[in-house]
Amino acid sequence: MEYSLLCHPSQQVKNKLFVFCIMLSLWVYMLYCCVGYCSTTPTYMLDERSRRIPPPRPLQNQELEMLFKTQSRGLLNNESDAESRGDGWEENKGETTYDEDSGVTGALNGSETKKLPQAIIIGVKKGGTRALLEFLRLHPDIRAVGAEPHFFDRNYEKGLEWYRELMPKTLEGQLTMEKTPSYFVTKEVPGRIYSMSKDTKLIVVVRDPVTRAISDYTQTSSKKPDIPCFECLTFKNITANLIDTSWSAVQIGMYARHLEQWLQFFPLDQFLFVSGERLISDPAGEMARVQHFLGLRRVVTHKHFHFNPAKGFPCLKRPESNSKPHCLGKTKGRTHPNIHPDVIQRLRDFYKPFNKKFYHMTGHDFGWD
Ligand SMILES: *[C@@H]1O[C@H](CO)[C@@H](O)[C@H](O)[C@H]1NC(C)=O
Ligand SMILES: *[C@@H]1O[C@H](CO)[C@@H](O)[C@H](O)[C@H]1NC(C)=O
Ligand SMILES: *[C@@H]1O[C@H](CO)[C@@H](O)[C@H](O)[C@H]1NC(C)=O
Repeated sequence: MEYSLLCHPSQQVKNKLFVFCIMLSLWVYMLYCCVGYCSTTPTYMLDERSRRIPPPRPLQNQELEMLFKTQSRGLLNNESDAESRGDGWEENKGETTYDEDSGVTGALNGSETKKLPQAIIIGVKKGGTRALLEFLRLHPDIRAVGAEPHFFDRNYEKGLEWYRELMPKTLEGQLTMEKTPSYFVTKEVPGRIYSMSKDTKLIVVVRDPVTRAISDYTQTSSKKPDIPCFECLTFKNITANLIDTSWSAVQIGMYARHLEQWLQFFPLDQFLFVSGERLISDPAGEMARVQHFLGLRRVVTHKHFHFNPAKGFPCLKRPESNSKPHCLGKTKGRTHPNIHPDVIQRLRDFYKPFNKKFYHMTGHDFGWD
């Protein structure tokens, strides 16, 4: 009531109204500021992890973009380009957006360290390993190398410290991961991973070996258009129905044979076999298995996926963000070769015993036959 003392009594009501109006506008302004602040703060960055350690000050969008860019450039490893780009469901140019995790925690500078990976996606080429890695990167407790390090097959002589340096920094409780699909089919790799850590969790994304082989061939022929035809490479002698098992496109799909090498070092329960087909038809279901296997909370769920019927592939999005969903899909314009159904049937017959053995070894029928 003190302000009324300063004024003429007849003006009291007017004054009250005036003050009320000022207060109201102040409140509205403050509210407006708050809302404005929130909308300029990059909410998609505020995942579980960043909430635990509040950033010292809100980063501006441009700064974040810079961070993503430098981070992803740094992660790019020269020779891995061919495989990392070509594998499975290819990433678009927008791949850098998925490196945003690296950016923010880099800026937070908490108690971060580079650790050797506790879990590795070891295969298989064209199985869907890129899709799986991108799905996993939605999880705040996972930090993964973007490119394929090829440490255990091509860079082993560089040593574990070189390998560790490639890894993203992690906070306590976060898993470090990488993917290199050629590990699964390289004889020396199981022993080498074992000597790094016998507890390493191993994830294999597998897919119908026939469609995998065709997809593999298609990718190669898009880069080298003058390679011989699919049939020409598949058979050593087509009249004798002799399949060339030394051709990598055929050889990679003999999963049972490769798995035997691995089981000499690791028990079966250290592997998770992810169905490349289900990863596309039911990404949330398959991701539930993966998160369970890695001992993680189930964070990546159906909310992260929405199916794009035009593409036939799921798109992923951060549910809390307004950014455009990131769609997975085969590179446009890459046509699959016309392969005679008889050739496909012969390949099916060839793979049947290997598939059967693989189902038996893993205790899981992938339904390819
Ligand atoms: C990457 O390429 C640069 C030059 O293009 C080369 O100096 C460097 O050694 C390469 N790094 C690896 C890991 O191969
Ligand atoms: C991050 O931490 C390191 C060592 O702990 C320090 O040298 C560096 O200056 C820090 N960077 C920032 C941006 O605070
Ligand atoms: C392919 O196999 C057929 C039947 O076994 C044989 O007659 C022919 O000589 C073989 N061709 C070559 C190029 O080995």
